[in-house]
Amino acid sequence: MNDTPDLLKKLMEYGKSDFYPFHMPGHKRQYKGSFGVDFPNPFSIDITEIDGFDNLHHPEGILKESMEWASRIYGSSKTYYLINGSSCGILSAISGTVSRGGTILMSRNCHKSAFHGVFLNQLRAEYIYPQIIRSFGIQGGLLPEKIEEMLMNHPEIQAVFVVSPTYDGVVSDIKTIAETVHRFRLPLIVDEAHGAHFSFGKRGEFPVSALELGADVVIQSLHKTLPSFTQTAVMHVREGYVDMGRLDRYVHIYQSSSPSYVLMAGIQNCIRYMAEEGLEQMKFFSGRIEEVRKVLSGLKHLRLFTDQEKGRYGIYDMDPSKIIISTKGTGKSGAWLDDRLRKEYHLEMEMCGSDYVTAITTLNDTKEGLQRLCNALLHIDSGLSAEEDFEGGNSLCQELKRTPECRLTIAQAMDEPRHRIAISDGEGMVSAEFVYVYPPGIPIVVPGEVLKRESINLIMKYKKLGLAVQGMEDEDSRELYVVNETGSVGR
Ligand SMILES: Cc1ncc(COP(=O)(O)O)c(C=O)c1O
Repeated sequence: MNDTPDLLKKLMEYGKSDFYPFHMPGHKRQYKGSFGVDFPNPFSIDITEIDGFDNLHHPEGILKESMEWASRIYGSSKTYYLINGSSCGILSAISGTVSRGGTILMSRNCHKSAFHGVFLNQLRAEYIYPQIIRSFGIQGGLLPEKIEEMLMNHPEIQAVFVVSPTYDGVVSDIKTIAETVHRFRLPLIVDEAHGAHFSFGKRGEFPVSALELGADVVIQSLHKTLPSFTQTAVMHVREGYVDMGRLDRYVHIYQSSSPSYVLMAGIQNCIRYMAEEGLEQMKFFSGRIEEVRKVLSGLKHLRLFTDQEKGRYGIYDMDPSKIIISTKGTGKSGAWLDDRLRKEYHLEMEMCGSDYVTAITTLNDTKEGLQRLCNALLHIDSGLSAEEDFEGGNSLCQELKRTPECRLTIAQAMDEPRHRIAISDGEGMVSAEFVYVYPPGIPIVVPGEVLKRESINLIMKYKKLGLAVQGMEDEDSRELYVVNETGSVGR
């Protein structure tokens, strides 16, 4: 029938087009190199837990051996293959380290899955806030001394959860943070979803993985920055501060009971490839990125985020593979640049913020693809001039530095009687819903927080810019549920 939506046809047509991906998955739809050539037709290896092929939920054969092999490569006490993405590792790590109703210390710029972990376990969240890099409007790193301060003031905290690198490639001082957290005899969980490639890069060229720096649980999305299928991720655990049995129980709750052998074989294939050829490939990739960065340093109006801010704003290290281009000072928005790159140059970015775009580059990017990005940016730049920032240039970053007033825990706010209001009328009310732009999926508003005029303005600005504002039941993101009784505080 003509009106039947045909996803497969659409994907195949797109695959044949000249659109180039500066987004995940990290394989960039390439089938080259030894990671791809030996990989068979997926149907031919798509089985279930038949005799001889083990069971991910009770591994004692080939899957156990494979995960133990991976653990030796990474140097962990235990490595899990995750087929539900880093999200499932994050949910498991939070559930496995904090008791129901307990307290977690987490960075406020976490991915939504961390907030979902807080909700599901009815936790109380204490927040630490990333530093803000004003000149770029992006988040910096986390300061270890702030974490120490929070741990001193809140002896009830049971685990610390941080995101490093951020979506923009900013790495915090994980070694010092781990030492600090361990002084309080607590586990440190690091969301390293965007840093799976760190484990295979050369020191000095790429940041060091949190696992090597003393973190207790490290979660990496293989699919974001390495040649691996979407949804594939790994969770590494170091024995000492983690109840291994409890964590294990939760991994089996959050993983599908029908894990895909195609995805699991893809995980092993990716790790094998990186273990055998990764260092050499990453070195080659590092050289290519250096060339890209050299060319983009010639931009006159758009600005490339470089490592010049390293050592400030909590930035301990930077992932050079994330290409962040700021439109600040050009009078144009990130959405404008994103749109031009897509429509005129057929280059698809990973995300755009209010005044920047982010390109994910990986070792699978082609020389031609990277050249197309450089040429497009130089060409767009040549048509720009210095102008006032566009109206209301405040960003998620500015929002994140305003400590919210939390009236209720996330679970309380989501379970309380509630009613719907127009977002524009919400100032002073307690939100019963999340509001975030996806990507990056970092909440602007968390359930239980009192709505501020600035957050409301930001949400309305993002909608006007055409960014994907999500999280609310109202699909048009015009109306928001707020909590009934406590719903009118501080007006
Ligand atoms: C910082 C961060 N953590 C975790 C996730 C979730 O990862 P996954 O998509 O592998 O579930 C994302 C997804 O974009 C992310 O940006």
